[in-house]
Order: sequence, then structure tokens, then C-alpha cells
Amino acid sequence: MTDTQLRTLADGNGLPLLGLGVWQARSGPQTVNAVRWALELGYRHIDTAQAYGNEESVGRALRESGVPREDVFVTTKFYPNREDPVAELEGSLRLLGVDQVDLYLVHWPGRGPLRAWPGMERARERGLARSVGVSNYSATELAEVTKAADIPPVVNQVQFSAFEYRRGLLEAAERLGVALESYSSLGTGRHLSDRRVAEIASRAGKTPAQVLLRWCVQRDVPVIPKSVHRERIEQNARIFDFTLPDQDMAALDALDRTGGTAAAREDRWW
Ligand SMILES: NC(=O)c1ccc[n+]([C@@H]2O[C@H](COP(=O)([O-])OP(=O)(O)OC[C@H]3O[C@@H](n4cnc5c(N)ncnc54)[C@H](OP(=O)(O)O)[C@@H]3O)[C@@H](O)[C@H]2O)c1
Repeated sequence: MTDTQLRTLADGNGLPLLGLGVWQARSGPQTVNAVRWALELGYRHIDTAQAYGNEESVGRALRESGVPREDVFVTTKFYPNREDPVAELEGSLRLLGVDQVDLYLVHWPGRGPLRAWPGMERARERGLARSVGVSNYSATELAEVTKAADIPPVVNQVQFSAFEYRRGLLEAAERLGVALESYSSLGTGRHLSDRRVAEIASRAGKTPAQVLLRWCVQRDVPVIPKSVHRERIEQNARIFDFTLPDQDMAALDALDRTGGTAAAREDRWW
């Protein structure tokens, strides 16, 4: 990977702009194969979570890939209904078969944005996570945790795409020194059939998925598209060999349906 494919976080660690997401990838061969193919194809970043139930499969694929552990950026997430982020991470590390994760996120601000944070700081102090961050935090919640923290979060992973262009949240995160990371950049598949995206893709000689992912990375927002199909995993990685012209970026910006919100979600499930 080249430097242009890394986002440097406020704590100095480098987050690869492209990763493989494994939400809804079934534990067992489906996840093992997806992660194995991704690593073969040059991905060096995998995004899992306690809640996905597939950490063990991610770990197996990592070991079997032969790629050195230190070359792969591994993220997992604390399930906020549980009590102790340190104890939970120790469990995740056992399942993953690694000594430390690269990034540990509070999956959502369950029971308030500050509740899990002291435990997240302890996880980092003990060296169980190289970086710590949050997910599904609004601008207000992000400001709250950043202000209260001894070790501030360096990432906020949120639903972010051309159709959910949370400009207010992105700008707030940048001001706080927090990297916004996009999940559901493809709308969990729903944005791929949009006619306007297809037109831009056809002009660029690319696919709709590549255009939607490029829209993020072109503004330095990391992406973690999920697929369990080898040809799609390969396709989703080919986003660093073209640039969307300003007018296409603007046309994609205009697809936003959130009104440029600073909220993380319109439908909070917690
Ligand atoms: N922090 C959070 O609360 C949170 C929430 C949601 C997601 N996430 C993370 O973000 C990752 C990505 O988000 P997501 O899973 O919602 O979905 P996504 O990446 O937006 O889209 C994935 C869907 O699109 C399909 N797909 C992928 N690439 C494609 C391509 N090139 N052509 C056609 N179809 C394609 C996949 O199908 P196949 O798999 O069948 O190929 C899957 O149905 C998750 O896996 C997870 O790691 C985090």
C-alpha cells in the first residue's frame, strides 16, 4: 500500500482508506473466504464487531492468509449493552487469535456517549488496542466524549455515502481531530441501482460501486465495503486508479437526503 491510501489518525496511526466489512457475512466458510480473498487481493484492513458473531472466522482467515499480522489493520467494536470494554476486548482477542487490535470502537452510544469511554481508554493503556474510537456518534455526542476524554477518540464510524452526506457531522469531526469513517457507502447495496450513479459510472468507465466508494476516498474518508463475492471484493478495491471530476463530485453531493445533517442516524436503534 502507498501512503496515499492511508489516513493518518490524530494518534499517529495509519488507517487504510480501503477495508473489507463483514457485517452479515456468516461465521464459517463465508467469512473465512471473504477475508482470505480480500487479503489475497491486497486489502490490509478488516472491519468486524462483537455483534457480527464472526470474529473467530476473521481470525482464522488472517492466520491462514500468511500475511504478517502487523501488515493488517483489524477493527472490532465493543457491544455497548455489555459492561466492561476491557473484558469484552479480551474475549474478542481470543476469538481473533491476536494480541491486540488496531482499532476498537464503541459500536453505538448505548446508555449515553460517555458510559463506555473510561473502559475504552483502559483498553488502549493496556495495549489491547492501538487506537480507540466511536461509532454512530452525532456531532454533539462526539464533542461530549472528546471533551471528557483523557485519550480522545480518533475515529467516528458512521453511515455516510453520497445519499447520506452528513456534511455537518463530517465538518464537526474534522474540527475535533476525529477521522470520519464511512459504513454502508453502498447503502447496503441499495444505492447501486440509482440511475444518476449509473450515468456517472458509465462516463468514468467504472461501476456504480466504484463511483460511490471513490466519492468517499476522494475526500479522505475511509470505506469498508462488504461483499462475500470474490469478483466484487476485487472490483471494490479498484478505486485508486481514477479521479471523479468536480462536476461529478458535485452531482453526487446533491444526492444527499439528510440535509447535510450533523446527526449520525435518523433511525437510532439503541
Ligand atoms: N458501525 C456500525 O454500526 C455499522 C453499521 C453497518 C455497517 N458497518 C460496517 O460497514 C460495512 C459495510 O456496510 P454494509 O454492510 O451496510 O454495506 P455496503 O458495503 O454498503 O454494501 C454491501 C452490500 O452490497 C453488495 N455489494 C458489495 N459490493 C458490490 C458490488 N461491487 N456490486 C454489487 N453489489 C455489491 C453486497 O452483497 P454481497 O455480499 O452479496 O456481494 C452487500 O449486499 C459492514 O460490513 C460493517 O463492517 C458498521
